Amino acid sequence: MNLLGIKDLSCDEISNLLDMADVYLDKIQTKEIAEPILQNKVLINAFFENSTRTRISFEMAAMRLGGQVINFSAASSSIKKGETIIDTLQTLNMMQPDIFVVRAKQEDMPGLSSKHLSCPVINAGSGMSSHPTQALLDALVMRKHLKRLDGVKVAICGDIRHSRVAGSNIELLQKCGAIVHLIAPEEFLPKSTNINTKLYTDMNDGIAGVDVVMMLRVQKERMEDNIWFDEHAYFKHYGLTHDRLKQFAPKAIVMHPGPMNRGIEIASDVADNADYSVILQQVEAGVAVRMACLDYSRTS
Ligand code: NCD
Repeated sequence: MNLLGIKDLSCDEISNLLDMADVYLDKIQTKEIAEPILQNKVLINAFFENSTRTRISFEMAAMRLGGQVINFSAASSSIKKGETIIDTLQTLNMMQPDIFVVRAKQEDMPGLSSKHLSCPVINAGSGMSSHPTQALLDALVMRKHLKRLDGVKVAICGDIRHSRVAGSNIELLQKCGAIVHLIAPEEFLPKSTNINTKLYTDMNDGIAGVDVVMMLRVQKERMEDNIWFDEHAYFKHYGLTHDRLKQFAPKAIVMHPGPMNRGIEIASDVADNADYSVILQQVEAGVAVRMACLDYSRTS
């Protein structure tokens, strides 16, 4: 079974995947060895874009399930010699991988991969719209802390327009009945929204009374060159500081998918405050969710 986007999952399927991930998280934390369901299986981790936590957590997840991993990096591949993406995909397919995990800046890369590969394909982040395993791991952490997703108020703050993390989170949270506040300067807000989503340009209004504040990195690499960006002004208006959090969302947990830009979207004393920051828990949950996704990909 492929996992190309949150659009392919119902709320029940999301919930089942999170239940499975919970069991894996428990095993990771207690250092219990998981059943080697990927024994004799080989996963290709095909990353056409940079990554630290997503790539390594897929690798860790596959190995924890007894599988083996080949890391493909576009920067050192024949793509640099002019080979087309389709030729690359067909070439990799003929080596008979058992699972194909792919990240790329093209939105349609996971779909294209699923057409050219005979094994299950998992989207590890595509373009500016989709990053399903990130949204699942975020949901796992939220559910752990808040015991539910239905009715939970989540503020997503930052460069929403260029963020696939925001894209998949919005989709998942809406499916599961959460209320989403999107906070950003006009030029970072999405061009359209759906029900249960409110837009804010004022951060204090947007985070007021929420259960979760999810901060996003400003993705300069995805912006058109002429976009305005002043880091100091941005931090003043949209940076998450301890005082702002305690004044407007005193009970909220703080999330960030990483990589963080400290002093631009988030203050260090917020990022490192274990009373409410769950940023490192997200990394740990990432391995468990990817184990669950690899497990799920074996079903037909
Ligand atoms: C994000 C990504 O690459 O989409 N990181 C991640 O996967 N944890 C977000 C980002 O690059 O800011």
